[in-house]
Amino acid sequence: MSTPVQPDQFAFDEKSTAEIPSIIARYPQGKQASAVMPLLDLVQRQMARVAGRAWVPRAAMDAVADLIGVPKIRVYEVASFYTMFHLGPVGPNHLQVCTTTPCWLRGSDAVHAACRAAADTDPELFTVEEVECLGACVNAPVLMINDQLYEDLDGERTEAVLNAIRRGEKPEPGSATGRHGSAPEGGPTTLFATDASERTDA
Ligand code: FES
Repeated sequence: MSTPVQPDQFAFDEKSTAEIPSIIARYPQGKQASAVMPLLDLVQRQMARVAGRAWVPRAAMDAVADLIGVPKIRVYEVASFYTMFHLGPVGPNHLQVCTTTPCWLRGSDAVHAACRAAADTDPELFTVEEVECLGACVNAPVLMINDQLYEDLDGERTEAVLNAIRRGEKPEPGSATGRHGSAPEGGPTTLFATDASERTDA
């Protein structure tokens, strides 16, 4: 990501301002510094809503530091540590491709290639980022688009999801193969009965 042009100032808009008291109230008196992460998330969502690009400018980090009464460096440390906070503008579809071992073993290279090709062709629509485990390894390989997880992908399925977004559709998140939750591929192999009275092994 290239070095972003930083705005001189940042102000919470009306919608964000209305949410701030309830966010800070989640934490005990004297521990308001713990609100730093939800407040950075609030900034990022405001930027997406107002500017069309989700990111956390430096001026917004300063505003968060003032709000919770901590040195600015404390907020910079948090914002630069977690990949969920973007230090530069990302496109309206942020493609986070997990390439950690379980996803890699299950074909994340093809998912990553499809995402990179989409971002090269439509940089205004897609921003691609390689990330560590997204916590859905059972249905690897996994791609997160904004707040939604797409699972059990391969190159072709990834292209289908991205093409649906290009057409203005909202592709259904979850397993691309119809897997139920994290059940084994092909359906359950044990515990077929969901009603205890149907069990034969009791
Ligand atoms: S390794 Fe990809 S979701 Fe955990």
